[in-house]
Amino acid sequence: MKILSIESSCDETAAALVEDGRKVLSSVVYSQIAEHRRYGGVVPEIASRRHTEQICAVTQQALDQGSLTLAQVDGVAVTAAPGLIGALLVGVNFAKSLAFAAGKPLIPVHHIRGHIAANYLAHPQLEPPFLCMVVSGGHTHIVMVEDYTTFRVLGRTRDDAAGEAFDKAARAMGFGYPGGVELDRAGKDGDPSKYSLPTPHVDGSPLDFSFSGLKTAVINLVHNASQKGEELDIPSLAASFGEKVAEIITQRLLLAQEETGAQVIALAGGVAANSRLRARLSAACKERGLPLYAPPLDLCGDNAAMIGAQAFYEYQAGHLAGWDLNAQATMDLAEQFESR
Ligand code: KG4
Ligand code: ZN
Repeated sequence: MKILSIESSCDETAAALVEDGRKVLSSVVYSQIAEHRRYGGVVPEIASRRHTEQICAVTQQALDQGSLTLAQVDGVAVTAAPGLIGALLVGVNFAKSLAFAAGKPLIPVHHIRGHIAANYLAHPQLEPPFLCMVVSGGHTHIVMVEDYTTFRVLGRTRDDAAGEAFDKAARAMGFGYPGGVELDRAGKDGDPSKYSLPTPHVDGSPLDFSFSGLKTAVINLVHNASQKGEELDIPSLAASFGEKVAEIITQRLLLAQEETGAQVIALAGGVAANSRLRARLSAACKERGLPLYAPPLDLCGDNAAMIGAQAFYEYQAGHLAGWDLNAQATMDLAEQFESR
C-alpha cells in the first residue's frame, strides 16, 4: 500500500510517499526555520502562511521523486493533531481536498505517533510492544507502545518539554533559535562535570519530568556571571546541561523499563538527535542487554515520512477520517480520531 502523507503541524511543510509503513519512496521537507529565527521562535501566523504557499510544490516534489501520480497512491494521510492550530488546518484541509478529489481514503495521524513510527522506517525488525521515549520541542513522554495503534503514557513533563528546555537554555547561552542542535555541537568540546546543575523530581510521580528548574538554573548562572563580570566556559556549560538532561531521561526511562519489564527500548522526536542522550542511553541499554532503536538523524525532526509510516498501521486498524475531519491543537496520544 502506497500512502501520500502530509505534515504541517509546526514550521516544517512536508510531504512523503511511504510503502507499507516501512519503505520511504520519497520525502520532502521545506523548513521555515530561517524566517522564524529572526523572531526567536515560531510565529504561528507566519507558519500557516508559509504552509499555504509551499504545500502544493512540496507535495508535487514528493510525488515526482517517488515517480507516482496522485491516482496511483492508495491513501492520503495527514497530521491532524497536536500542533499549532492554524498550521495543522492548512495540512488537514489540503489533504482532505486531495483525498476527496481523487477518491482516496483519508487517514488522520497523531503527530507523536508519527515520531514513534519514524523508527519503523529505519528498523525493519522493530515491532510493538516496546517502550519509547518521545522527546521533541513540544512533548516529553515515556510511552508503552502496546501495539501499532495502542499507546499507554507512563510519564510526561509537568512544565517545559525537553526540546523547549534545550532551546531556552541555548538562548540564555547566546545561541540562536532553535538552539538545541547548536548547544549539542558546542558541548562536544566541553567538560560535562564543570557546572553542577539540579536534578528536578516530581513528588510522588517518579516517571514524570520537570525541566523548568534546570532551565532557570542555567539562566541564573548566566546572569550572575554577567553581573560579576565573569566569563563563562560556554562549551562546558553546554556539555553540563546536555549531560544532565541525558542523565534525567535515561534514569526515568530505565525506571519505566523495570516497572513494565519491557524488553525493547526506542527513542523518538527532535531531541532524539542529541548526541549525549543517544550515547548515554545506548550505554545504559547495552549494560542491561536491551536493544535500543533510534531514528537516523534526518528522521528525528519533523517530516512526513514518519506520518506515512504510522498511517499504514492506522489504516489497517480501520482508523479512517470522514470528510468532516478537523484539526486539534491538543490531543492525548492514547485517543483515536473519530472514525468514519
Ligand atoms: O520533534 P521536533 O522536530 O518538533 C516538535 O514536534 O516539537 O523537535 C524539535 C526540537 C527543538 O526543540 C530542537 O532544538 C530540538 O528538537 N533538537 C535538539 C537537537 N536537534 C533538535 N535538541 C538537542 N540536541 C539536538 N541535537
Ligand atoms: Zn515533532
